[in-house]
Amino acid sequence: MYVLALVTQKGGSGKSTLAVGLAVAAMENGERVAFVEADPQGTISKWKERRGNPFPRVVRVADSAEIERALVRLEAEGIWLAIIDTAATNNALAAHAITKADLCLIPTRPSPADIEAAIPTLVAIRRFNRRFAFVLNQTPPRGCRLSEAATSLNSLGVLALPYVGQRNDHQDALGTGLGVTEFAQEGRASEEVRELWRWVLKKLVEGSLDHEPHAKKAAC
Ligand SMILES: Nc1ncnc2c1ncn2[C@@H]1O[C@H](COP(=O)(O)OP(=O)(O)OP(=O)(O)O)[C@@H](O)[C@H]1O
Ligand SMILES: [Mg+2]
Repeated sequence: MYVLALVTQKGGSGKSTLAVGLAVAAMENGERVAFVEADPQGTISKWKERRGNPFPRVVRVADSAEIERALVRLEAEGIWLAIIDTAATNNALAAHAITKADLCLIPTRPSPADIEAAIPTLVAIRRFNRRFAFVLNQTPPRGCRLSEAATSLNSLGVLALPYVGQRNDHQDALGTGLGVTEFAQEGRASEEVRELWRWVLKKLVEGSLDHEPHAKKAAC
């Protein structure tokens, strides 16, 4: 079983939204997926309550021992991918999620304040020697701010592709208990999330995470 953790102490950066989008994209690809929700805010559980579909399962956890037990149980049940959604803190629970992850994704909005706020999470990931990638989320169509953010993140580590644009479909999907690829199958948001899932899958399965600088030069 692979474990993917969405982590960053910066609130509202898109951990839960991307967790849901990626989980459903993976399911549509035939994978057996479950959530471990390590955030008392319960965004994923509330999404699941709105969802008229028993999958993916959501297991809520309140401490590190519960994360351990949940992962053992899910693996025994034949789950192929467990996605841990964490709270916007640098607490012990988030740290434990990091230690269990084959890959940590750090969603980051393209602003200096958001990038700075992700640094303590990055430090924790490095301390535990885990693999990670930033995901630029809620991006504008183009502009200097985006290129500068991509350049900054590339200097700190791997930046996943593609960037995920700011699109209402993500919010509407979350509000209706759907993954964005279910909500607006043909939309640009769905395309990006499917492509991001393919990127994540490759990194999970191949195990390698070479630095791939790809920030476009700012045309400004
Ligand atoms: N790419 C996007 N386009 C539009 N809205 C988005 C996008 N990503 C996230 N959002 C919206 O931004 C808000 C915050 O996202 P989300 O709850 O996923 O962040 P989070 O990091 O999980 O927050 P928290 O730290 O509170 O758990 C939500 O309203 C969500 O729908
Ligand atoms: Mg969240």
